[in-house]
Amino acid sequence: MNKALTIAIDGPVGSGKGTLSVALSKKLGILYLYTGGMYRALTLACMREGIDLSDEKAVLEVLNKCNLHLKVSAGDTVIYLADEDVTETIIKPEISNKTPLVAAHPKVREEMVKRQKEIVEGHDAIIEGRDIATAVAPNAEVKIFLTASLEARSFRRFEQFKERGIKKTFEEVLSETKERDHLDESRDIAPLEQQKGTIEIDTTADRVDQTVAKVMDILKERQFI
Ligand code: C5P
Repeated sequence: MNKALTIAIDGPVGSGKGTLSVALSKKLGILYLYTGGMYRALTLACMREGIDLSDEKAVLEVLNKCNLHLKVSAGDTVIYLADEDVTETIIKPEISNKTPLVAAHPKVREEMVKRQKEIVEGHDAIIEGRDIATAVAPNAEVKIFLTASLEARSFRRFEQFKERGIKKTFEEVLSETKERDHLDESRDIAPLEQQKGTIEIDTTADRVDQTVAKVMDILKERQFI
């Protein structure tokens, strides 16, 4: 059997990772694993339990009992806590802002990475997150690091909030994006950073289809498709 094709997509908030990953995995017909959703769902479970998010032991206990599981397919990751589909609930801003705290715990990351590796084992997959090229799939055939200016990333999130009826000013979104960047880049374990051997794509001026086309060109050049 040929080794499965793994495409790792890392990058900061609002860089377009999600949109790119969904579009690309649909086009290629391969699994899409949204790892951020796992950290978000755990954050939701911890908030419901009312625990201190900075207490690693308490967070781990919640992880072990909350029955977090996923249904992954081409273009979709559906996230459950027991039999509740929380995929929509976890994208709320109050969860986004707290998730970096939960994701900063080394033992939590260790368990998440283990589960993520198990989910894609033996399958062609696009894995999207912050530590994919470094921890989850260091042997990925293609590693992409998406970037975009802070303003462009904040503007995309501002537009997404508007679509979902969430009232925030652009300045508020800009400041939250900066804060999440800071938390994700400054943590001790698996901080978000671009690795050697990754291909950087700046999406500031791109539409989604242009970014998808760039990655398709890379895959063709390297004869993966
Ligand atoms: O990708 P998304 O923005 O939904 O991720 C939410 C949060 O989960 C990030 O801000 C980061 O703190 C955390 N995360 C992580 N490692 C990943 C994916 C997400 O630490 N692989």
